[in-house]
Amino acid sequence: MSVAIYRKYRPKSFGDLLGQEHIIEILKNAAIRDRIAHGYLFYGTRGSGKTTVARILAKVANCETRAKDKKFHDKGEPCNTCPRCIELDEGRALDVVEIDAASNRGIDEIRSLKESVRLSPTVAKHKIYIIDETHQLTKEAFNALLKTLEEPPAHAIFILATTEFEKVPATISSRTQRFHFKKLPIESIIKKLETISKTEKMDIEKDAIELIAAVADGSFRDAETLIDQITSLEDKVTVESVEKIIGKVGFTRIAELAGFILENDLNKSLEYIATFQNNGLNIVDLAKELIHYLRRALALKADPKLEEIFKNDLTERERETLKSHSEKINPEKHISLIRDLIRSYSDMRYSPFASIPLEVTLIEHLK
Ligand SMILES: Nc1ncnc2c1ncn2[C@@H]1O[C@H](COP(=O)(O)OP(=O)(O)OP(=O)(O)O)[C@@H](O)[C@H]1O
Ligand SMILES: [Mg+2]
Ligand SMILES: [Zn+2]
Repeated sequence: MSVAIYRKYRPKSFGDLLGQEHIIEILKNAAIRDRIAHGYLFYGTRGSGKTTVARILAKVANCETRAKDKKFHDKGEPCNTCPRCIELDEGRALDVVEIDAASNRGIDEIRSLKESVRLSPTVAKHKIYIIDETHQLTKEAFNALLKTLEEPPAHAIFILATTEFEKVPATISSRTQRFHFKKLPIESIIKKLETISKTEKMDIEKDAIELIAAVADGSFRDAETLIDQITSLEDKVTVESVEKIIGKVGFTRIAELAGFILENDLNKSLEYIATFQNNGLNIVDLAKELIHYLRRALALKADPKLEEIFKNDLTERERETLKSHSEKINPEKHISLIRDLIRSYSDMRYSPFASIPLEVTLIEHLK
C-alpha cells in the first residue's frame, strides 16, 4: 500500500466523520449562518479528528461553490470539487498555512505570523492558520499569536489543535471557541476498520479487528496505523497474529480464563495458563488484563448502570459476556482474589518464573 491508510481514509466532509457529533453540529450551523469564528481551539484525544475537522472547516470557509450557490451553501459542507477545496486536500492551498508547532518550521512561521496575517489572502476568501501541537509553541510564539488573536483581521481564521489543553495559556484559549474531542467509541472504530478492510480486500478476522480497535483506545489513527502495519506483515490476519504483534491479549481470551475462574475450575484454569505460555504469549500481560477484567465484572455486579460507560470500549458481544460473568461474582470471595492477583502481578514482573505467582494464587483461591 503506497498511501498510509489513515491518510487515504481521512474524512473529507463533516458527514464522513464518525463520533464528535456535538462538534460537527455546531460547526455546520456556524457555516450555514456565516458565523465562522476567528479563533478555534480543538483539544483532546490523539487521532480523534482534530486536524481532520480543522481542514474541513478551512475548506468550508474558502469553498467557492458555497460562495456561489445558496442552496449548496446551506448544507454547511465543502464541495470538495472547486479549486480551493482541491488545493487544500492536496496540501497546496496558498491561503491555508499549516504550522506544526512541534518542529522548528513552526517557530519561524509564528515569528513572521504577525506580519503575514495582515496581508490579504492570495486567492481565497480567508487566510487560515492551522496550528498543530499548539501546546509546544515557545513563549515568544504564544505572544505573537496572542497579539493576532486579540485583533484578528477580518479575513483571518486561526484553528489551534492540541492534545494538551492545560499547556495552552488561558490568555490564548479564552480568545477562542473551544471544542473537546473525545475518545471514539470502540463500535465506531470497528465499523470504520471493517469498511477499510473490505475496500482494501484485507483478509482479517472479526476478532482481530475488534482487538485492534480495543488497543487503539479511542484513537482512529492508532487503529488505522495498526491495521496497516499488521496487514503488511501477514496475508491472513487472525486474532492470534494480532496478539503476537501488539503483545496484548484479546478480550475473548481473557474472558475464557475468567470464566474458568468464576466457575471455580482449577484444572481448566491451570491448563489454560500452560497452553498460553507454550504459545509464547506474555503471561504478565495476561495477569494484568485478568485483573482488569475481574475488576470490571465486580464493578458491574455492584452497579449495573456501568454497562453504559463500558460501551466506550467494549462491543455489545463483549458486554454480554462480561454481564454474564458479573452475575457469577461473589464480592467477598472475589475481592480477596483480585487483591491477591494484584500482589502476584507485581511479583511476576520481577520473577524469572513469571507464571508461578499467578498459578499459586489460583490454587489458593480455587479450592
Ligand atoms: N472522527 C473521525 N471519524 C473518522 N475517521 C477519523 C476520525 N478521527 C480521526 N479519524 C482518522 O484518523 C486519522 C487521524 O485523525 P486526525 O489527524 O484528525 O487526528 P488528530 O485528532 O488531529 O490527532 P493528533 O492529536 O495526533 O494530531 C484521520 O486521517 C482519519 O483517517
Ligand atoms: Mg492532529
Ligand atoms: Zn469547494
